[in-house]
Amino acid sequence: MNALARYVVAVGESVVFGPSYGAVQTLIRHPRPLDPDFVWRRITDDLPPPLDWLRLHWPPAFARRPLLHLKLKQDHLLGISQHYDVSNEFYELFLDKRYMFYSAADFDCGEESLEEAQTNKANFLLRLIDPRPQDKILDLGCGWAAMMHRVIEETGNTENLVGYTLSQKQVDHIRQHHGYNVELKNFITCDYPNQEFDKIYSIGAWEHVRERDVPIVLAKLHQALKPGGRLVHQFFCGIVESPAASVVAAQIFFPGSMPAAYPAQIRAFERAGFRIGHRSIHDYRPTLRAWFDNLVANRQRAIELVGVRTYNKYLVFFPAFTRMFNDGIVILARYVLEKR
Ligand SMILES: C[S@@+](CC[C@H](N)C(=O)[O-])C[C@H]1O[C@@H](n2cnc3c(N)ncnc32)[C@H](O)[C@@H]1O
Repeated sequence: MNALARYVVAVGESVVFGPSYGAVQTLIRHPRPLDPDFVWRRITDDLPPPLDWLRLHWPPAFARRPLLHLKLKQDHLLGISQHYDVSNEFYELFLDKRYMFYSAADFDCGEESLEEAQTNKANFLLRLIDPRPQDKILDLGCGWAAMMHRVIEETGNTENLVGYTLSQKQVDHIRQHHGYNVELKNFITCDYPNQEFDKIYSIGAWEHVRERDVPIVLAKLHQALKPGGRLVHQFFCGIVESPAASVVAAQIFFPGSMPAAYPAQIRAFERAGFRIGHRSIHDYRPTLRAWFDNLVANRQRAIELVGVRTYNKYLVFFPAFTRMFNDGIVILARYVLEKR
């Protein structure tokens, strides 16, 4: 696509899906690797007030749900595959070297390396999950087995822990490198054995469950837990029911996924019969910046592995999500839900 064609498409996309969507797509389609400083500033710096008003208010509120509905027709499974089945080595370039977490870390003092911050997070979640050697444990959306490592470090038991993921590349990685129990399984649509698990946790995967599926999946998880069992979630979501304008642009990165809004999550947790045992709010932004810096530092290898367009897409993804946190329209939460 030449520069004029890119411009015309960008204007069309901005009118229909909003300026955030048009701007993000234009950056991603740039034929050369993007300049990192320009991208970070372009996306996260404040805009002049009229442009900012447009960014926050277009498409208008009444049009957002139908537009999202249109976008969400994209197959969830295909969307997961498009995001995660890129290249394991590509993800290794920017994720932490110790666990390979693809979810927010805890930069408690702000000076930690990504590895230390992910260890802080793993330890925090470990206390919430509280795994015992004899517990049967399920990791929903296990990624490259990051939290499975930490749980196994604690319990010494690989037999009783199983991870579900929808990414074939993640399954291959876990089987080849770690030999843990992992299944290519859709945790939204699958059936679960009755009262099988002591602990179930999901870290950065509950985002993929749409609002209409949340009560259905929670009911299945409640039934899959033993009495006294617990469900631990780390997830981000919108803070109000009506989707923000930039949420439409998020479909570029996670096609076919859309987290339920925070109030809907809390209502669903309680209606499913869980007691809320812990809740805390965390900040995703330092992790997004660390991944961005790692990707930039490994630019050449990243482009060799995935090409310029995918490299540009991830370079844009991290500041785009940072912007949503800066705007105060999304939060990152941790919950412990106890089955009475
Ligand atoms: C952002 S990654 C987080 C991975 C890991 N929990 C971590 O913290 O590094 C989201 C994970 O959820 C998985 N996932 C998303 N939707 C899923 C579904 N419906 N069924 C199973 N896994 C799913 C993806 O395959 C991926 O492994």
